[in-house]
Amino acid sequence: MRNSKIIGMGFYIPPKVVTNRDLAKLMDTSDEWIRERTGIVERHYADEGNGPASLAKIAVERALADAQLETKDLDLMIFATLSPDYTFPGSGCVLQSLMEFPHIAAIDIRAQCSGFIYSLAIADQFIKTGMYNRVLVVGAEVHSTGIEFATRGRDVTVLFGDGAGAVILGPSEDPRVGILSHHLHADGRHYNKLWVECPGCVYTPRLTQEMVTSGRWYPKMDGKFIFRHAVEGMSRVIMEALQANNYTLADLDLLVPHQANLRINQMVAKMLSIPEDKVFNNIMKYGNTTAATIPICLCEAREEGKLKPGQLVCLASFGSGLTWASSLIRW
Ligand code: UT7
Repeated sequence: MRNSKIIGMGFYIPPKVVTNRDLAKLMDTSDEWIRERTGIVERHYADEGNGPASLAKIAVERALADAQLETKDLDLMIFATLSPDYTFPGSGCVLQSLMEFPHIAAIDIRAQCSGFIYSLAIADQFIKTGMYNRVLVVGAEVHSTGIEFATRGRDVTVLFGDGAGAVILGPSEDPRVGILSHHLHADGRHYNKLWVECPGCVYTPRLTQEMVTSGRWYPKMDGKFIFRHAVEGMSRVIMEALQANNYTLADLDLLVPHQANLRINQMVAKMLSIPEDKVFNNIMKYGNTTAATIPICLCEAREEGKLKPGQLVCLASFGSGLTWASSLIRW
């Protein structure tokens, strides 16, 4: 079976910058607290009227240009988001209304912070089996329209930002180059440790005035629980990827972890004794952009000369679900 590899990448961050000090005007928080506990300095919010599909459009255009391809060359689209434009249809279909696509399937993936790696793994299978040759994988989020700008929601609100990233996968001519393996996990027992409860199809009606006024439509998180599990889960899934391919930590050139909290990534690096210069972080500028985070990181790592052909690269994520995952790539 043939390997797949990333043949084009692009990202888009909306221009509106929101600093920690801006948030401190709306809730009881401070620049010091946010920097110290999370590493975040600022994040970006989409302009009104823009959902993840419109952010994704620009990221996809950039990824296509990078791969020197057009939409007509694509065989499949996989769109990862936890903040879909609408309850249904999926954001992949909404993206198809914004750009001219052939009638390719649009699969929406709901795996939160692991959404991009889950999607990459699915795309990889279609290339491996020979069914498709060009698969578009998108991660895009607009959090800013669904977080609480008040002290009650401060633990979650300060963390999230909007953004989009896209990659195009194609077959690798060299069997040693490309995606080596994926390791995908979930533990649904803790689904409500980080979740948005309402509106919910389990309720009749799905949305009530009480849900709105009580704030049950905002994300709720047991931060300490998620933090602890994120450090353990990411460390384990990185080791799983290396061991499955007979590599050790010494072989790793670059770790691209999900960006939920800089302290999580620092603790993972410390636990595994990975030197800081081998870990790519950009949470300072964007906060947590969930499914968009890893493709944004890949684009910036390449721009900064930290992601180069021949390197052994590990992507790792952890998030709501609980879901966690890794991909090992010979770049
Ligand atoms: O995408 C994957 C999912 N997300 C994550 O992985 C996030 C994981 N969790 C975290 O990153 C951290 O738990 C947080 C950054 C959310 C919180 O940091 P912490 O060090 O675990 O703080 P804490 O929850 O123990 O809260 C300490 C104090 C509390 O006050 P009291 O009870 O000690 O008086 C909080 O109410 O900090 C308070 N606090 C805040 N203070 C100022 C919580 N959020 C804020 C805030 N600003 N934004």
